[in-house]
Amino acid sequence: MDTQTQSLLAQCSSERRAAIEQRVETLLSELTLEQKVGQLNQLNADFATGTAVGDMDVEQGVLDGDIGSVLNVGGLDEARRLQELAVEESDHGIPLVVAFDVIHGQRTIFPIPLGEAASWNPEMAELSARVAATEAAASGIHWTFAPSVDVGRDPRWGRVMEAAGEDPYLSGEVSKARVRGFQGDDLAADDTVLACAKHYVGYGAAEAGREYNTVDLSETALREVHLPPFEASLEAGVGSVMNAFNVYDRIPASGNEALVDELLRDELGFEDLVVSDWNSFGELMQHGVAGDLREAARACIEAGSDVDMVSGAYATELVGLVEDGVVDEKLVDQAVRRLLVVKGVLGLFEDPYRYFDEDRKSKRLLSDDHREAAREVARESQVLLKNEDNLLPLDETEEIALVGGLADSATDMLGAWRAEGRPEDVTTLKTTLDERVGGLTYAEGCDRDGSVTDDQLAAAVDAVADADVAVVAVGERYSQSGEAASRAHLDLPGDQRALLDALVETETPVVAVLFNGRPLAIDWETEHVPAILEAWLPGVEAGPAVADVLLGDHNPSGRLPMTFPVTEGQIPVYYNRLQTGRPPEETDVDLTEFPQGQADKYLSRYLDIPNEPLYAFGHGESYTEFAYTDVSLDAMTVTADETLTVDVTVENTGDRAGTEVVQVYLRDPVASRARPVQELVRFENVNLDAGESATVSFELTTSDLSFWTAAEEYAAEPGEFEIQVGHAADDIIAVETFELVE
Ligand code: GLC
Repeated sequence: MDTQTQSLLAQCSSERRAAIEQRVETLLSELTLEQKVGQLNQLNADFATGTAVGDMDVEQGVLDGDIGSVLNVGGLDEARRLQELAVEESDHGIPLVVAFDVIHGQRTIFPIPLGEAASWNPEMAELSARVAATEAAASGIHWTFAPSVDVGRDPRWGRVMEAAGEDPYLSGEVSKARVRGFQGDDLAADDTVLACAKHYVGYGAAEAGREYNTVDLSETALREVHLPPFEASLEAGVGSVMNAFNVYDRIPASGNEALVDELLRDELGFEDLVVSDWNSFGELMQHGVAGDLREAARACIEAGSDVDMVSGAYATELVGLVEDGVVDEKLVDQAVRRLLVVKGVLGLFEDPYRYFDEDRKSKRLLSDDHREAAREVARESQVLLKNEDNLLPLDETEEIALVGGLADSATDMLGAWRAEGRPEDVTTLKTTLDERVGGLTYAEGCDRDGSVTDDQLAAAVDAVADADVAVVAVGERYSQSGEAASRAHLDLPGDQRALLDALVETETPVVAVLFNGRPLAIDWETEHVPAILEAWLPGVEAGPAVADVLLGDHNPSGRLPMTFPVTEGQIPVYYNRLQTGRPPEETDVDLTEFPQGQADKYLSRYLDIPNEPLYAFGHGESYTEFAYTDVSLDAMTVTADETLTVDVTVENTGDRAGTEVVQVYLRDPVASRARPVQELVRFENVNLDAGESATVSFELTTSDLSFWTAAEEYAAEPGEFEIQVGHAADDIIAVETFELVE
């Protein structure tokens, strides 16, 4: 793929680039081998975000020049102190880079990234990252380990909450926006931070959705599904990439030369920094491809992985490897050069304390405009899954019974990666509805973990029975998604379904609000609960944002970035699937009998569950209706150097303003490899007043038609293509065909 990578230096002015390059080469020439190796060593300062590893004394390490970057520093003062040791007391005086996982906010916590992706609005992702960077850079942080760009097709994997869902294109657009938001136009500015596209590559394909499990991908699947969001991040100029824990082709990503040096660097043109994940260099031993830390260090430096997060492999082995002639010192030099370039573009050589300003921090964190931004993103991230008889929006004058521990749980709204977020910053749904609804009664109904006592149940039933409508908050605790939080069962934890069942029995209409970090198997709820709103884990403005939707101040426009399965048995179930040689057709044959001669028994399906998911990729309802009144292509045939324009006219046929996410899918029905039945290639949010219509135009080029062909190259193969336009992957309104000709 012709990825247009922008290196960090290429993003600088020529003067600044020359000055940084000169400073870096001068430093490099002055450093001893030991000092160079020290730069490549990264340690956690105050707390761990992974397995137990060696406990080098960080202060002494910085003083001795044995550490070049730190993560998980416990605050601005601590960061300043470590920087003073590095700059004013170590022999080389080279400043540290301070890193932290600022995933969806530093202190002003935004919706989890999967929620942001559900807005299908890259501007929301960019806004969130921009605010996060502004707050992080004011908190002594230079480098965030975000965005996660892992494509996730398995909701059992807890880290689907951390990225942008199952689709390569949507993930790419959102990831570009996040990189732009974090890095801005100038990494030396005091409100930008270095971003890090992670985890390179294929981490989201962990077998059975089990965290840190084996990944076994074809090269085609790697290139077609998991690589595109990294390519998009490189195009956005991301300044660092993080190794994944998993193997690719049975070789751990950190020590995989084909993956790092050959694919990421040589083929995709990435010139900047590769950092390991937590102890991922050391884990080459656990994977069984390194007999000891020395072998692990050799494999990783030769693969092109630069900075060693906490394993100590480089710190303890790299000098010896060079002195023994096993590793060429040039490999060390190039890794150190990449790190020094990062320190240069961050402006740390000019002012190592630029990011340590308590006054600026106190002014920026949790400011009113940041909270308002968090509320806007949280509003746009919500997905209306169903709304029978237009039960929603509610009226503030109604007697509303609010039920569920999650409705009043501040900490769970922050998600698993909460940086400096604090529960006391959160406005819960209960707090907001108490203020905005006169006739609100609250009954906990169930604890945050889903457990229900008889008393809780009885009180909830009574409260709901007396109300005009019930709003029931159900879902997962923040700790049930995120890293090391795989779940094999995807129904609502605990007795939440039983609680909903009892409340539905009261005949009072029930609205379920989902607070969760992943797609859930809510088939029963879908059948029995008239309205379901997916709110994800919405951050500090959870209450106002969800109330804005429930009470009709905001018409929900979110769309699912990831398929919801009927049941775990369907997984992996995703929209851009291959057709197979025996695609299922509708049948009324009773498959449990063995009907001799019934040819249509022998098709790709289950005996006991449907193939179709519960909710498809791109699904989402609105308080208004939209009609696609015209879909047209500006040509029936195109050549390789021509563009194709797709015009779509959408009308708001309802009685209130709303936003339709127009989705354009492509199908290449006959090619040298089996191609997906549909692939998202464009989308657009269209805001329309009642009765208003608009035409949106999408331009497609040959690059959009290209794929990893059987000839093992990216190319668009001549032949017929389908353009599918619609409201969701399973709600296609129009199909047009065109031909690519030689
Ligand atoms: C964790 C995560 C990674 C994170 C790193 C530092 O194990 O895998 O995403 O950035 O360690 O916290």
